[in-house]
Amino acid sequence: MRKNIVAGNWKMNTTVPEGIKLAQEVSQAVKAAGELKCDVIVGVPFPHLVPVCQALSGGPVAVAAENCADHDKGAYTGEVSAAMVASTGAQYVILGHSERRGYYNESIEMLKTKVDLALASGLRVIFCCGESLEERKAGTHFEVIKNELVGSLFHLSAEAFGQVVIAYEPIWAIGTGETATADQAEEIHAFIRQLVAEKYGAVVANDTTILYGGSCKPSNAPELFAKPDIDGGLIGGASLKAADFMGIVTAF
Ligand code: 13P
Repeated sequence: MRKNIVAGNWKMNTTVPEGIKLAQEVSQAVKAAGELKCDVIVGVPFPHLVPVCQALSGGPVAVAAENCADHDKGAYTGEVSAAMVASTGAQYVILGHSERRGYYNESIEMLKTKVDLALASGLRVIFCCGESLEERKAGTHFEVIKNELVGSLFHLSAEAFGQVVIAYEPIWAIGTGETATADQAEEIHAFIRQLVAEKYGAVVANDTTILYGGSCKPSNAPELFAKPDIDGGLIGGASLKAADFMGIVTAF
């Protein structure tokens, strides 16, 4: 059966010392909480990976990078490869976030390459998809999400696909305070699971963790997580305070 996951995405926030402190606060709170109904991940900026992995080593909280390069190595100044990320001790990488697609022109094709490189390095992928407000208003959101998943993930073998977590993040709900309603999110999550079932079969679809992201907070997490196809959250703003993040972690 699939795992529930709550993952933080710190984005471009916190210095290294601030990040170590936040990671330690989260780890201590998770340990103190005892048995949880979800796995907990913190997604951190590149410079934080090594010290945060060291600080959390052997503990219950896993670490994700927020991106990796679309080449395996070589003359790509400023880039960080999937193998480099894996060598820090991080277990996950977030790929396809709408901020990367939008601000850094990451295409479906480029993300396909990044997914392959990440999986080849032994990382698990948290793959983000989601529509803009214009696309939702135009009624093309199902098609947009399908294209993103088919184009970057559905070339994978079923075994490789098993290393992928999907995150549905409607762009209009990210950082805006406007959350998708639980019914709106569930509609898309069920659609995504159906797409996975058509491609990989019901067993794989049932085992696929699908997270919701977009203004998720302690107050709305219980209603979202109560939906049958919502298996947790990818949390931006509310992951920057340990107490808020824990309010979501304990929402199951
Ligand atoms: P917020 O929780 O700040 O809306 O961000 C969501 C997000 O983009 C997580 O990846």
